[in-house]
Amino acid sequence: MMRRPLLAANWKMYKTLSEMESYVSAFLGLVSGITDRDIMLAPNYTCLGDMVSLLDGTHVVVAAQNVFYEEEGAFTGEISPLMLVDIGVGSVIIGHSERRHIFHEDDELINRKMKSAISHGLCPILCIGETLEERESGETTKVLARQLSRGLKGLRERDMKEIVVAYEPVWAIGTGRTATMDQIQEAHRVIRERIQDMAREDIAENLRILYGGSVKPVNVKEIMSLEDVDGALVGGASLEPESFAQIVRFEEN
Ligand code: 13P
Repeated sequence: MMRRPLLAANWKMYKTLSEMESYVSAFLGLVSGITDRDIMLAPNYTCLGDMVSLLDGTHVVVAAQNVFYEEEGAFTGEISPLMLVDIGVGSVIIGHSERRHIFHEDDELINRKMKSAISHGLCPILCIGETLEERESGETTKVLARQLSRGLKGLRERDMKEIVVAYEPVWAIGTGRTATMDQIQEAHRVIRERIQDMAREDIAENLRILYGGSVKPVNVKEIMSLEDVDGALVGGASLEPESFAQIVRFEEN
């Protein structure tokens, strides 16, 4: 099993253009020469184009935090997959828990976004995860299975090779409360098994599953050592270049 680690920063609604520029120049120095893993930054929309230019020719890639499914039209405030591809963005986060819970995105909308992103050649990172209430009532497995089957509905086997899944328990996001190692490994195993049911064994085996939810330099090494964890999707601790660089170099912590 040789899944390449992916360390991704989700900046959420933080940073101005000049803050992005100074981050990038510091960060590139801190991660230079690290080529055995994928490093991804997902800034806000106003930083996207400039970040693509700044990172052109480097080993750090750029992702968007959201996308709409239509190419163009009367959809005030939305950004299309065509527009992301046009400025050189290669990946996009879809169905983040903040999109689901604050902006009421449902599995059907998320599924449309997944299909559209794939058809435009974008690598989608599908985020799934249970709420505290769902976990406490023993529904975690059911919730993850439902979010996967609905979110990935209608994808062909070859599409399934293009995706990344991020497990982000809602109760661990931005709370400082990380899931336990057992909870993380169990959820990731459930996700891989479900993908195996939906696609082929080798596709499930090669699928990268990221963990997100209060990942920090102090806990990333242990999280990354879990069998079915292939990377991290990091919010708060990705906002400082030193902190995210430490996460990227997880085995040195
Ligand atoms: P935190 O790392 O701030 O908990 O956020 C996780 C997250 O939502 C990444 O997408």
